[in-house]
Amino acid sequence: MNLDQKGESAGVDWQEYEQQATGAITAASERGELDAARIRYLGRHSELRQALRGVRDRETGMTLNTLRERLEAAVADREAELHRAELDERLSADGFDVTLPGEELPVGTLHPTTQIRRIVEDAFLGLGYQIRDDREIETVEYNFDKLAFPSTHPTRSPRSTLFLNENTLLRTETSPSQIHRLEEREPPVYMVSIGRVYRRDTIDATHFPIFHQFEGLAVDRGITLADLKGTLLYVMRALFGEDRRVRFRTHFFPFTEPSMEPDVSCGICGGAGCRTCEFTGWIELGGSGMVDPAVFENVDLDPEEWTGFAFGCGLERAAQLRYGIDEIRPLWSPDLRILRQF
Ligand code: DAH
Repeated sequence: MNLDQKGESAGVDWQEYEQQATGAITAASERGELDAARIRYLGRHSELRQALRGVRDRETGMTLNTLRERLEAAVADREAELHRAELDERLSADGFDVTLPGEELPVGTLHPTTQIRRIVEDAFLGLGYQIRDDREIETVEYNFDKLAFPSTHPTRSPRSTLFLNENTLLRTETSPSQIHRLEEREPPVYMVSIGRVYRRDTIDATHFPIFHQFEGLAVDRGITLADLKGTLLYVMRALFGEDRRVRFRTHFFPFTEPSMEPDVSCGICGGAGCRTCEFTGWIELGGSGMVDPAVFENVDLDPEEWTGFAFGCGLERAAQLRYGIDEIRPLWSPDLRILRQF
């Protein structure tokens, strides 16, 4: 079977057929009409499909097949147009009010540890301190040696510290930041370093092998212990309220002399004594002291010229106190029901 000059085969004028079909398809003003046109010109009993079934030669097959493809495309186009028109009509008929409030999205909250971090940052930025963020993978030299830890100090043991190899470890405290800062630039120094620290602790109500600390360092001429106490009082009040008091208990740290542990007055009982403060009226919070001359010497500063104080405190511990959370573990839980409370 061949098409003749006029494009006819099986007695059908295919140009005419296409014109009629396209006309019917574009004239269809709703789905029912479009379906009818499709069935008439493309359906199983249409002249086109019957002719296609009888095709014996390649050329006619190709011609009729491309005709079929054109008509199918025209149907799909018209269908999309009708669909869009229907939608437009429905939208205007419904009187859709674009000023109605949308569905409210749930609002998140900052993690308690992040909230503490921001309070500490704000407080120290207000005092003109620089905020730092140092490396978590540290060397024995910076984590221990330059901070004047004696070679026999127990935290140097792989039982308490997570070593990556003989000389590299996950920092056990933020105190190495003191050395980094002092080596970078001459004093005066007023800096706070905040970040994660790691210890080989077994998880329980008060221990987690990873936690956060903030570490402060002030180095200048003529700094005294009263400056340290005043600075800590200022931060503790920013964290826990204006009525808080701070006291010192003597302690030992390798890199400070003298060394003190600051206590903050208990916020539950106001200092009278309760279960939270174990009936002492005071809560332990971190470590502090005057920079040890050995540390100054380790960074080539003259201890006769420079004086300084340092302090360190756990963020989770501060968060527990501020928000009344009696365990550290919830602070490392991904459970949003816990976190949404703060
Ligand atoms: N690095 C000590 C710790 O993790 C805390 C500390 C104590 C930091 C005394 C200091 C300091 O800066 O002066 O237990």
